[in-house]
Amino acid sequence: MSKTDLLVIGDITAAMQSKLEERFQLHHYFKVENPTEWLTQHAQNIQAIATNGADGVPDQLINKLPALKVISNYGVGYDAIDVQSAAEKGILVTHTPDVLNEEVAVTAVMLLISTVRQLRFNMDWIQSGKWSSVGNAPFSHTLQGLKVGMVGYGRIGQTIAEKLDVFGCEIAYHARSQRSHSSHQYYADLQQMAKDVNALIVITPGGPSTTHLIDADVLDALGKDGMIVNVARGSVVDEKALIDALVSGKIAGAGLDVFAQEPHVPQELLSHPQVICTPHIGSATFETRAAMGELTVNNLLQFFETGTVLTPVPETAHLNR
Ligand code: NAP
Ligand code: 8YV
Repeated sequence: MSKTDLLVIGDITAAMQSKLEERFQLHHYFKVENPTEWLTQHAQNIQAIATNGADGVPDQLINKLPALKVISNYGVGYDAIDVQSAAEKGILVTHTPDVLNEEVAVTAVMLLISTVRQLRFNMDWIQSGKWSSVGNAPFSHTLQGLKVGMVGYGRIGQTIAEKLDVFGCEIAYHARSQRSHSSHQYYADLQQMAKDVNALIVITPGGPSTTHLIDADVLDALGKDGMIVNVARGSVVDEKALIDALVSGKIAGAGLDVFAQEPHVPQELLSHPQVICTPHIGSATFETRAAMGELTVNNLLQFFETGTVLTPVPETAHLNR
């Protein structure tokens, strides 16, 4: 059987590379020296794309690949892919839901605990010699009874909530719709929830419908003792408003895995003693990335065997038959 041409955008793991090579002729888009020339030669043959949440599919590329049938995303968030345009052209888009819930939830809990217990501040305290020169570090707050407002309560949001239940936190959530089988309190009004809780955890998708969902008003409502964790996308939080709120003491602290212009992280966040920053590592363990990679590859293999995929994004699910 001749190999199908697959365009790879961004990095893939060695395991993905070797599995994909058995069935596909791989073209690494970011290694191409002259994309215009390359497109003239190869565009008409590309039937599939493998990409990831950060790189997505560059604007207009979909329009330049007339034989494109399927895009497989190595990640659950697909805000960097124009799925409306793909759906209109009959192109199936897949992602990697569920296999990363546990890992991203652990990252969110790690950031919440680190923020609430002031890990960065306390590390600075010991490393700067203040423990011996000034004395014991100030107290921080407990997680027991801490009121946490989940902004987004889907696969990952609910996994985070289950873990925080174990720590004795009191959970509330905001989403556009209420879940019927949840014991946690639902807030249709995000600002009201921010007023009522001690900390927010943001875990919605990115994209236009959530851009700056967390704005200056929500941060004001959270208040001077309030904290925020963002493991969703940098676009969901107005980063300027967040910096202003942190620097002026309108909120108490933040734990951030995602940023507006990755990999650029504003110095005001990096240097703030009450801010913990991690470089978008929510799902980045060997084990979880292996599971995500396998699903990314299996979606492509199944598509070229049966015409269907395992995990289509909802916007293209109607094409999965
Ligand atoms: P999901 O199951 O689709 O859940 C998304 C949640 O967000 C739902 O509760 C949804 O409820 C809510 N939501 C969507 N649009 C909203 C809006 N405009 N306003 C308020 N709530 C809204 O997705 P998931 O699998 O949990 O993943 C969530 C996101 O996490 C991904 O899309 C990705 O961006 C991010 N993520 C980050 C990392 C990382 O490494 N940091 C890793 C994985 C995922 P309603 O539809 O009822 O509003
Ligand atoms: C990945 C993510 O880092 O799944 C997502 O939406 O943000 C992360 O798991 C991202 O897809 C890049 O591979």
